[in-house]
Amino acid sequence: MSVRRLHSEQPASFDFSAENLEWAQRVIKRYPEGRQASAVIPILMRAQEQEGWISKPAIEYVADMLSMPYIRVLEVATFYTQFQLQPVGAKAHIQVCGTTPCMLRGAEDLIRVCKNKIANKPFTLSEDGNFSWEEVECAGTCVNAPMIQIFKDTYEDLTPEILEDLIAKIDAGKEIKPGSQQEGRIGSAPAEGPVTLTDPALYDGSVVKYGLGAGIPEESAEESQPADQLPVEKAVPKETDAKAAASEAKPGVAIDKQAHKTDGDAPALLEAPADGVADNLKEISGIGPKIEAKLNGLGVYHFSQIAAWTDENCAFVDAQLSFRGRIARENWIEQAKTLAAGGETDFSKRVEAGEVDSSKSKGDS
Ligand code: FES
Repeated sequence: MSVRRLHSEQPASFDFSAENLEWAQRVIKRYPEGRQASAVIPILMRAQEQEGWISKPAIEYVADMLSMPYIRVLEVATFYTQFQLQPVGAKAHIQVCGTTPCMLRGAEDLIRVCKNKIANKPFTLSEDGNFSWEEVECAGTCVNAPMIQIFKDTYEDLTPEILEDLIAKIDAGKEIKPGSQQEGRIGSAPAEGPVTLTDPALYDGSVVKYGLGAGIPEESAEESQPADQLPVEKAVPKETDAKAAASEAKPGVAIDKQAHKTDGDAPALLEAPADGVADNLKEISGIGPKIEAKLNGLGVYHFSQIAAWTDENCAFVDAQLSFRGRIARENWIEQAKTLAAGGETDFSKRVEAGEVDSSKSKGDS
């Protein structure tokens, strides 16, 4: 860390431009009476944006503006390294992170580039006055080390060659893209692409079951899905005994195979309910009218179909309905086996008795 002192050569005065003065007065009004000093950092930063660096007259101007002793503003300006205390390059002041992770990943090579291309010593203007550089402490993008910061933007995953190229582009007035300089890297995700949190079900509420535990009955959880994920309502045939349907099952009804081709195997699906009548799938805890409509749209109408699902079939249906893991968590298959065999579950008894509002079809509710 360098010693931070005011520059030996200072301008005669400092004044905000009319636009910046108006902006500063607006910022000061955000703070309660007697607390205007809290605006010192944004206003100092604005002064730096206007002049390129913080001079002694600028410090005194800001102190007067905020009714602060000069020494208090001087303390702030000399403490925070984002404030430049001497003139910097007209086109870029390059701050090279030299803290351990960046140092281990090649920060010293980046500093060598700065010495060669800009000036041998930090805080020294290049011959044309367009560039300057300094070494700074961790700037918080260690995962993408080594990095540099230019004004408010960071440039990461650098090599000496990439830094040379960035300097050349800035010099030529070309636009440069902040962030990782490695082709295809998104933020701080692994360079080869994200490997965690890739399951779309993590983002549709089905994993956390939002709504549950907050006073909403479990069977109503599907109602809290975002509207754009809900299916168009579909008429569901009246329930009758049609439990032998699985033997007539045939594959291939309304399936987005392209979108989910890597997720499991399709179970036996039907183009229509056996004998034209479907089971009331809402007797399975976890299936309400919207999920039932989705299942019907997929070609699932009977308990016996669900009872016969393998793990691979479950993965396929999970992917189709975008709620990975829910079939197992809610034990659909065991429930379906009981119901397909003509039995009842505690939940199906409540549905039969009309005690579960969320298990009524739209027309019933
Ligand atoms: S160590 Fe360089 S950004 Fe953190």
